[in-house]
Amino acid sequence: MSSLAPRSLWTLDPSVCFLNHGSFGATPRAVLAAQRGFQERLEAEPVRFFVRELPGLVRGAAAELAAFVDVDPEGLVFVDNATTGVNAVLASLRLPRDAVVLCLSHVYNAVAQSLHRHGGRGGWRVVHVNLPRAPLTETGVLTAFDAALARHKPSLVVVDHIVSAAGVVLPIHELVRRAKATGARVLVDAAHSPGQVPLNVRALGADWVVGNLHKWLFAPKGAAILAVAADQRADLHPTVISHGYRQGLAAEFDFTGTRDVSAWLAAPAGLKFWRSLGGDALMEANQAQARRFRARLVEAVPGAIPACEEAMVGAMAAIVLPPSFGEPSFARALALHDRLFDEFSVEVPVSFLDGALWLRVSAQAYVQDADLERLITALGQINR
Ligand SMILES: Cc1ncc(COP(=O)(O)O)c(C=O)c1O
Repeated sequence: MSSLAPRSLWTLDPSVCFLNHGSFGATPRAVLAAQRGFQERLEAEPVRFFVRELPGLVRGAAAELAAFVDVDPEGLVFVDNATTGVNAVLASLRLPRDAVVLCLSHVYNAVAQSLHRHGGRGGWRVVHVNLPRAPLTETGVLTAFDAALARHKPSLVVVDHIVSAAGVVLPIHELVRRAKATGARVLVDAAHSPGQVPLNVRALGADWVVGNLHKWLFAPKGAAILAVAADQRADLHPTVISHGYRQGLAAEFDFTGTRDVSAWLAAPAGLKFWRSLGGDALMEANQAQARRFRARLVEAVPGAIPACEEAMVGAMAAIVLPPSFGEPSFARALALHDRLFDEFSVEVPVSFLDGALWLRVSAQAYVQDADLERLITALGQINR
């Protein structure tokens, strides 16, 4: 099948078979042009831009994103990326020593490191909920989560909406509801959500939600949102303190020193591009492509195990590779990635997690069936 949109709308290297939209996204030419426009506007008169124009521009862009994820505009700020948002929350949090913080065994490594750092300083006990082995099921995830909530009585729960290496969409509303019912505060790592799956922050009812805009919403790199529940706003501070300290969420986060925030300002251009490709219809098309790709991978790679049941597939299709690809380890995952890239020009993530090697393919409007076939041919040659 041909792609939904010509690849020439992006600046992607034509010699590479790019099946990893998920890690960093790919910013379209039109959005890069919008970003460049803001940079030129800044440099035309830097003082006028920073002092007079920027506050209104940032709030205007934030209001557009707030409407998109359904949250009141006063409760949404931009951060550079999901990692920065998570760090702001954890660094701001005051918990008693020995408080339990729960996260999932599939937690993204940067988030785990942030928990390690802030938890270490605060004397928190960070507990990982072991999710079942692949294929993950909603029931299996919820059962493991319930058992951990009952056993550990956490003060804070950090939960992914879409886990990274396995690319699986978790039943996030149910996870948040169950954690909140125990009295815990909940931080949702929705790094992959905006533009990949529907994200309704109000309905979610979490204390904090972080989401990248540069992945699936086509914003430039350095654009992410942090949505904050009304009762958490006064106590939340950015990782960098500047003039706006203690003057409210927007004043604190909108200016953290002189820097280029064109990625934030061009985020609405990313949203516009996403809508021009169909918006909800694009998410559905990507999901359909991911499901097709997954079925094809399972058929073409003997012994491959799908990451999850079909209902949990978003725009990424992952499989656990069979033992014929080698003893699972970080080094093996890296070597496999590098071979695919160096010998076959296929860009696809291979991760080591839970004692297994995971291979994840991203669907996207510029991806064609031929791209997947190139990966399958490469895997066949490596696995001879
Ligand atoms: C689940 C999850 N959380 C957090 C991140 C971190 O995103 P960033 O590097 O943009 O901060 C990622 C990145 O892929 C992710 O997959």
